[in-house]
Amino acid sequence: MVSKDEIFPIAIGTWKIDPDNFDNDLRALLHSYERGQNYLSLYMMYNNGGVVKQMRQFVKCVNRDKLFINTNLEPTIARPGDVEVQLDEYLKILGLDYVDSLQLHSPWFSNLPLEDVYGEIQQLVDVGKVRYVGVSNANLEQLARIERVAKIDFFEGVYNLECKLYEDMGAIEYCAHSDKLFMAYQPLRRNRTAMRNYPVLADLANKYQKTQNQILLNWIVMEKRLLTLVKSTNIERIDENIGSLSFKMDMGDYDKLNKFRSEEFDNVAVNWDGTGVTIDQLANQFE
Ligand SMILES: NC(=O)c1ccc[n+]([C@@H]2O[C@H](COP(=O)([O-])OP(=O)(O)OC[C@H]3O[C@@H](n4cnc5c(N)ncnc54)[C@H](OP(=O)(O)O)[C@@H]3O)[C@@H](O)[C@H]2O)c1
Repeated sequence: MVSKDEIFPIAIGTWKIDPDNFDNDLRALLHSYERGQNYLSLYMMYNNGGVVKQMRQFVKCVNRDKLFINTNLEPTIARPGDVEVQLDEYLKILGLDYVDSLQLHSPWFSNLPLEDVYGEIQQLVDVGKVRYVGVSNANLEQLARIERVAKIDFFEGVYNLECKLYEDMGAIEYCAHSDKLFMAYQPLRRNRTAMRNYPVLADLANKYQKTQNQILLNWIVMEKRLLTLVKSTNIERIDENIGSLSFKMDMGDYDKLNKFRSEEFDNVAVNWDGTGVTIDQLANQFE
């Protein structure tokens, strides 16, 4: 089984995998796995379960114990028992007897108090159906409530050059000091950061002879020491992303990225109750 410290720094995202044209995506996923990417993030909501259904093929082609499988609970958990029902659906579809981690996709997805949901998840760890507990899209107050009932090992949140809210509020530092791995999703903001061609990124790409997306991933992994969750089903871009791990930049250059601020994103007011702009939508506010 893959332990926390064996997780490859670039995890496999699955948003926009096309279940109706899966042959190409399966080839790309296997390429990712062969290149070392060993963390797969699954979410039943994507294509109404279509992505998870197709993923059974992928899981059958690899050594299951060398793949870390993260699963997300869907909205409208109405009773504590719904947590195990949703987990069992993943296990049945994928043909598995355990998942590596389970998390509520977002705190506002539950009609129950967070303590009730995470008490259930912790029990599933205790009986061996889940190995680790994850939290996603929470704020620090919600995280503290969850920690009263469960041992948290993973925290998934948006982080990229333009959206640094989790760093600003101290969540990244808190995770580092409490042995939680922070998984940064949308690190490339779906290629939109590079499309903006910010001078600092263009200059660093030119200096190191790398693409802007490689500069972004390198900075998040090497300097910020975070895991990244990226979706790509294009073999050239998978190789490009993995190529971001094979160089180092000067401290002064990392510092330029550390200091970068986006006034536009800094001024978005994020709501934590599921209304208005929610944290999972922050990176999608602007092209
Ligand atoms: N917990 C949450 O609330 C949450 C929210 C959002 C996302 N996620 C997870 O995080 C994963 C990553 O987020 P995301 O997919 O929204 O954003 P992302 O990984 O930043 O970007 C993915 C998009 O960028 C393209 N891409 C990847 N590498 C590229 C490169 N080197 N150059 C140019 N384009 C590149 C991909 O297209 P190709 O496939 O064609 O390369 C895809 O369209 C998701 O798939 C999902 O699993 C979780």
